[in-house]
Amino acid sequence: MALAFRKLHPHFAAEVSPVELRAVHDEETLAQIRAGMDEYAVLVFRGQPFADAEQLAFAQRLDGRLHESAGSRVIAKSRLGNEALSDISNLAADGEIMKADDRRRQYGLGNRLWHTDASFQDQAGRYSMLHARVVPPVAADTEFADMRAAYDALPDETKARLVGLRAHHSIAHSRQILGFEFSPHEQDQLKGAIHPVVRTIPRSLRRSLYLASHQSRIVEWPIPEGRLLLRDLMEHATQPEFVYRHAWRVGDLVVWDNRATMHRARPFDDAKYRRELRRVTTLDIEQPAFVASSS
Ligand code: OGA
Ligand code: MN
Repeated sequence: MALAFRKLHPHFAAEVSPVELRAVHDEETLAQIRAGMDEYAVLVFRGQPFADAEQLAFAQRLDGRLHESAGSRVIAKSRLGNEALSDISNLAADGEIMKADDRRRQYGLGNRLWHTDASFQDQAGRYSMLHARVVPPVAADTEFADMRAAYDALPDETKARLVGLRAHHSIAHSRQILGFEFSPHEQDQLKGAIHPVVRTIPRSLRRSLYLASHQSRIVEWPIPEGRLLLRDLMEHATQPEFVYRHAWRVGDLVVWDNRATMHRARPFDDAKYRRELRRVTTLDIEQPAFVASSS
């Protein structure tokens, strides 16, 4: 089946023509979606009536192995009972809106900082697939920034300075920015991971900035200089010209490439309105997706 991609932003992001992803099993259509990801880095699929198991199965067909160790498991067990399914909601175990001082709510507020998923782990996230189940009647959008376009727009001197630099990513760091406190036992489980600041994305071979609020320092530099560089890059890469804002409708599935984009949740009155989305993320492993999904 031939898919059409309608661009949503001058640099990236596209809405895919109507397709029922639960029914997509053929390699040819999956290959078109992967090629769309290489080009656009964010794909929007409207009207997907996924149940949890169907969303998990589609993610595996598209991109192989699933990420199953979300940072949030360190503070609480998921109410969804499956570590591969991230509960992106403001709901407590009883299905009611979380209290303002609920630790899981405070932890989740970290999604309002620009980030990439699971960059604080050694098998970081590759594709994230977020599905909207309940959306508020007010704007509660997600913003995405194109890290390839941001890299391309850097002055040559800056590109040269970034060669060979690596950053330490830690979920404890991004949460501490917001004043969230971890116990020593929790800290022990959150050592973080080190990744290059500039990556070349396989297949498209485009260079990309790999940034996130999880970054605590540049490994090769003293801490203050490294943090200043990371702040400058973050400021550069999130200028409006690089940002696409997604307004959710129930049934939307948005797939993004964490190697090529950053994202953040925009604020809304989360004490008043229910918002319920579910995310499945694949592992950024060397194995090409089509090999993983056909094994
Ligand atoms: C995520 C995320 C943002 C949002 O699901 O990884 O950061 O708007 N979500 O809920
Ligand atoms: Mn996220």
